[in-house]
Amino acid sequence: MSASLSPRILQMGLNEGMSDAALAVVVLAAGQGTRMKSSVAKVLHTLAGVPLIGHVVATAQALEPAHLAVVVRHQRDDVAQAVSERAPEALIVDQDDVPGTGRALEVALEALPKSFAGDVVVVSGDVPLLDSDTLRAVIAHHRQQGAPATLISTVLADPTGYGRVVRDDSGHVVKVVEERDAAADEAAMSEVNAGAYVFQREPVALALGAIGTHNAQGEKYLTDVVESLAGGGQAVQAVRVEDSWLLEGINDKAQLSDVHARLNRMIVRGWQLAGVTIVDPSSCFIDVGVQLAEDVTIEPGVQLRGSTVIESGATIGPETTLLDTTVGAGAQVVRTHAEGAEIDAGARVGPFSYLRPGASIGEDGKVGAFVEIKNSTLKRGAKVPHLSYIGDAEIGEGTNIGAGAITANYDGVAKHRTTIGAHVKTGSHTVFVAPVEIGDGAYGAAGAVIRRSVPPGALAMSVSTQRNLEGWVEANRGGTPSADAASKASKGKK
Ligand code: UD1
Ligand code: MG
Repeated sequence: MSASLSPRILQMGLNEGMSDAALAVVVLAAGQGTRMKSSVAKVLHTLAGVPLIGHVVATAQALEPAHLAVVVRHQRDDVAQAVSERAPEALIVDQDDVPGTGRALEVALEALPKSFAGDVVVVSGDVPLLDSDTLRAVIAHHRQQGAPATLISTVLADPTGYGRVVRDDSGHVVKVVEERDAAADEAAMSEVNAGAYVFQREPVALALGAIGTHNAQGEKYLTDVVESLAGGGQAVQAVRVEDSWLLEGINDKAQLSDVHARLNRMIVRGWQLAGVTIVDPSSCFIDVGVQLAEDVTIEPGVQLRGSTVIESGATIGPETTLLDTTVGAGAQVVRTHAEGAEIDAGARVGPFSYLRPGASIGEDGKVGAFVEIKNSTLKRGAKVPHLSYIGDAEIGEGTNIGAGAITANYDGVAKHRTTIGAHVKTGSHTVFVAPVEIGDGAYGAAGAVIRRSVPPGALAMSVSTQRNLEGWVEANRGGTPSADAASKASKGKK
């Protein structure tokens, strides 16, 4: 079966360890994401087959918090659904008219049980690569220091767009200032706020109550609590993360593709280390939900999407896209597009094949060039080698469908099935007018239009006897190159 060794990013949604009763996680996902310039809410854009919010919710779940709250507003129902599908336990909290990350946390805190007095991790729905191991280390530091707030920072060569972490001469965190509100000397600082924090509930709730909206965006900034909490008895902590790519926030589509490239490299590398041969990582894209076995070979130009599963020894590509498709051991799938299909062990598919939902190709079966298959089962060893459309059909074991077969499965109103038995051989260019049944071991002549069922072992012929009208071209198309050629040929015979 599939490899058990998989990159951490592939272990999404798996919970390990003990639940942390003193921990709540709040995911901020109410923003519109104006910079995406899209009708789709930012956190619903997909990254390696999962919406941004799905990545973040999975990380939150991995922390096993006692409470998980997700703050929504823009495209509220769609975002809430994406969350609940993955985390039915999550509390969906609606942000009101007051904009800003500070207001988002404030409404989330109001929704948590009054009795909860633990630590609150805050993460953004648009920072998908921040992982639970990093967060666990930050929570441990926060607790050890007894800090009211601990933020995650990193140093960037180009800090454009991020809030800057301002420290005093002795290195203590003083405040976080947003780029738009930063003075020139602050904007020149390269340590940025990642937008992920751990807070003690009580102090942050109090601080949020006191902050205003006097800034460039007229929003209640969560970052403003840092300055007020830093003024108290205990220092605000900032944990600097070296791998700054972990903290990349996605605000526009260029950042989305940059982060996807990074994540894809990690996924590819994880599978390579698990024994998968990936010839050209730069041209292969693998979603986080895909499962691959040892000794799978991925040729260049392959996209493995959704819940695709590939068993040992199979070769995929070049130039192939598989969505929610399973491929059995040792199968070969070349230059193919497949969605919701099942390809059993040892089968050969392609080049230039199109498998649609419900296509099931049996063990050692074959689907060849320019063949489209939909909602049909090919039993073991059945072959559709050339130029065919097979829809709503069942094809028995060892049967060979001649080149150019069409199942006429649709009468304009309803779909009908074609049932073909075992070890049948149909002639080239056959039309099966469904519903129709072909018995085991039957043969079909070339060009047959099969409108009636064929009994086992019969030869089905439906084309009328050929007639040749001698001299027709010279008599009716005189003076054409065809007529001249015909005339020459008939003289040559004499
Ligand atoms: C925020 C931080 C910035 C940090 C950056 C890191 C603030 C004020 N700024 O800026 O210091 O460097 O993240 O990526 O916090 N959201 C809500 N409700 C709102 C507004 C936003 O839930 O009213 C959510 C968004 O959906 C998003 C997250 O909060 O998931 C961050 O919002 P975004 O607008 O992307 O903040 P940044 O400008 O990136
Ligand atoms: Mg952002």
